[in-house]
Amino acid sequence: MPYTQSIENCLAAAIGAGGLGETELASALDEAHGGLAQLRAWRESDFLPLLALPGRRDDLEALRPVIDSCQEHCTDVLVLGTGGSSLGGRALCALAQPHRGPRIHFLENVDPWRFSPVFDRLDLERTGVIAISKSGGTSETMMQFLACLKRFRDSVGDAGIADRFTAITEPTDNPLRRLAGQFGIHSLDHDPRIGGRFSVLSLVGLLPAAIAGLDIEAVRDGAAEVLESAMAADDPKDSAPALGAAVSAALAREHGIAATVFMAYADALGETALWFRQLWAESLGKQGKGTTPIDAVGTVDQHSQLQLWLDGPADKMFTILTAPSLGQGDRIDPEMLSTNVPELPPLSHVPELDWLAGRTFGDLLDAHARGTADALAARGRPVRTMRLDAVDEMSLGALLMHFMLETIVAAHMMGVNPFDQPAVEDGKVRARAYMEE
Ligand code: PA5
Repeated sequence: MPYTQSIENCLAAAIGAGGLGETELASALDEAHGGLAQLRAWRESDFLPLLALPGRRDDLEALRPVIDSCQEHCTDVLVLGTGGSSLGGRALCALAQPHRGPRIHFLENVDPWRFSPVFDRLDLERTGVIAISKSGGTSETMMQFLACLKRFRDSVGDAGIADRFTAITEPTDNPLRRLAGQFGIHSLDHDPRIGGRFSVLSLVGLLPAAIAGLDIEAVRDGAAEVLESAMAADDPKDSAPALGAAVSAALAREHGIAATVFMAYADALGETALWFRQLWAESLGKQGKGTTPIDAVGTVDQHSQLQLWLDGPADKMFTILTAPSLGQGDRIDPEMLSTNVPELPPLSHVPELDWLAGRTFGDLLDAHARGTADALAARGRPVRTMRLDAVDEMSLGALLMHFMLETIVAAHMMGVNPFDQPAVEDGKVRARAYMEE
């Protein structure tokens, strides 16, 4: 497996009363067992096409012309979409190296102060657009799409639009598909049975990632490893996602845990924390159930939230996500801090900083991740640690699949449907009424 998970510091044996007792864990694992059985049944009946994606390659062929065209002709690609139509792509594209593909811009909001200025810096001749909306009718995405059509029409003409735009939407008669048809824009099908926040391994997440130069087959390979091991596990303890779900759901139910902090010690994984936040919140926050996800990046958020986490209400569990970083990045030259180098000014010896001499950025990052996890556990706060083998496509694919499975099993334990979001509609209806006033 391209990652490891440790839940030791979520147990009473390690952290005292804030952790799960043996019987609490055993009964949670029993319930998680039911969640795994449900997943297996869904996989067999093809109720959940998400579970078939890791093993598929046939569907990637249809993406090739769009990938090639964007990589050949574009310096920039705009991805229009919001929520599940954007966050998965963002999580993956955060791994991209700038020299491997065009710059990808995720335009999620209808922020009037940000949308326009983005275009000031673009050459529309060399800009592609991927519009993603499963329903094909989300107001923010459609407004962005209409605004882009106008800007490109004025700049490259209608024929130029067809060359540069791609739409991803359900194969239904929806506004995005209809408009795309009118402008001769190529539409790719969003599987109606894969919900937005579970779509990262479909073309929704993988197309932007491939354009950015990532190895999307490796993403699926990583996901496949986690899926197969979960499907084969007789005991939920042997499936990291089922074990994670058991711990999360039991801490919420038995120990008043109301929030779950996902803290990634790598900037590139900060986007994954955001993706997790949506997945967990929108899938589980129903009928008074669920825990509030909090995304965080280490070490940065040690300087903004950690005080509260250590000394505020004991109502949170923590996931500390790391990747091997020892020895990586700039190394502080010990001579910079030495008194014995005549050519350096004497003030360069700052004894308080001696402990940084010879150490790298990665050393300090790793030390802080461990220090934070230890400090939380020492305060009796439940901490799960997860470690990726590397910050790469394979490990991230595995992690994404881990959290989709964990969320589905946790939903099973909480007795909620992870695939809908009925409460969100109310605000949308009211917003539309305001627009029509
Ligand atoms: O996960 C979800 O289902 C939502 O966050 C949707 O992705 C989001 O509302 C955007 O919907 P659509 O893709 O239909 O534009």
